[in-house]
Amino acid sequence: MIILGIETSCDETAAAVLDNGELRSNIISIQDIHRAYGGVVPEFASREHQKLILPAISAALKEANVTLSQLNGIAVTYGPGLVGSVIVGLNVAKGLSFGLGIPFIGVNHIEGHLFANFVEKPFPQFPFICLIASGGHTQLILAEQPGSYQTLGNTIDDAAGEAFDKVARMLGLGYPGGPAVEKAGTGGDPNYVHFPRAMMDKDNLDFSFSGVKTAVLYHVRKISQEELRQDMKSIAASFETAVVDVLVKKTIIAAQKYAISQIVLAGGVAANKRLRDTFNKETRKREYTFFVPSPVLCTDNAAMIARAGKYLFEKKMYSEYSLGADASLKL
Ligand code: KG4
Ligand code: ZN
Repeated sequence: MIILGIETSCDETAAAVLDNGELRSNIISIQDIHRAYGGVVPEFASREHQKLILPAISAALKEANVTLSQLNGIAVTYGPGLVGSVIVGLNVAKGLSFGLGIPFIGVNHIEGHLFANFVEKPFPQFPFICLIASGGHTQLILAEQPGSYQTLGNTIDDAAGEAFDKVARMLGLGYPGGPAVEKAGTGGDPNYVHFPRAMMDKDNLDFSFSGVKTAVLYHVRKISQEELRQDMKSIAASFETAVVDVLVKKTIIAAQKYAISQIVLAGGVAANKRLRDTFNKETRKREYTFFVPSPVLCTDNAAMIARAGKYLFEKKMYSEYSLGADASLKL
C-alpha cells in the first residue's frame, strides 16, 4: 500500500510517500516569506502553498521513485490550522483522488503529530500518555488505542510553541521562535532568572504559558539593551527551562495518576533538545519508557499525515469529497 501524504495546515508545504509503512520521502518546503514579518501571515501562507504544493508532491514522488499511478491513496490534513492554508492541500488531494480514482482520507493534524511516533521504530504501544506541544496546541492525552483519545489537560491560554515564538520576538531573535530561543540559550545559565511555573498543583493537568511570557517581558523592560545582549544566553536558557519544567512535571503527574509507564512526545516543541534531554533523564529515573520522533518528524511534515492515513486506510475510513477544512478541529 503506497500512500501520498499532504500537509499544508500552517506555513510548511509538505508531501511524503509511505510505502507499506516505510517512509520513502519526506519533502518540506519552508516558506521564507514570513521571516520578514516575524510570524506567519495567513494570506501569504495560502498563496505560497499554491505555488509550492505541486512541486513538493512531484519531489516526494521522484525521491520515492513512485509514479502517480502506483499510489493507493492520499492522506491530507483537513484541520486544525489556517483555513486558507488547509484548503490548498485538501483540494489538491481531492483532485488527485478524483483523477486517479483512489480514495482520499482527511487526517486530523493533531492526530498526525501523535502518529509521527509510528514512522520510525521502535513504536510505542497503546495505552500511553502523550504530550502534544506545538505552535497551536499544548495537550496531555491518554491514548487508549488508535483513534481513542482522552484529553487530560489543555493550555488555558498560549500554546508552548506560541510562548517560544512570542518570547523570541521580545528578545529580538526572529522567527521561527522555538529554534531561535534554543540556539540563543545554548550554554546559558538555566537558573539565572527564576521565571514562574504556572498551575503546578498536583490535581491540575492544564497548562498556562502567558505568565512566563509576561515575566520575560517585564524582565527585558527592566534591563538595558547592553545588559540584554550580555545576558541573552541565560535569559533564553531560563525561559526555556521554565517551560520545559512544567511540560515534564505535568506529563509525569499524568503518568502517575493513570498508572501508565509509557510517555510519548509530539509536536514542534518536541524538537527542543532541552525538553528531550529532560524527559529522557526524568523518565529513566522512574523506569518509564520514553518515545519521541526525530526532530524533523516533530515539526510539521507530511510523513506523520501519511502514517495516520495508513491506519485510517486499513480501517477503510475513507473521506467524502464534501469534507471541508475545519480550522478548529479537535482531537
Ligand atoms: O507542530 P508545529 O511545527 O506546528 C504547529 O502545529 O503549530 O509546531 C511549531 C511550533 C512553533 O511554535 C515553534 O516555535 C515550535 O514549535 N518549535 C520549537 C522548536 N522547534 C519548533 N520550540 C522549541 N524548541 C524548538 N527546537
Ligand atoms: Zn503541527
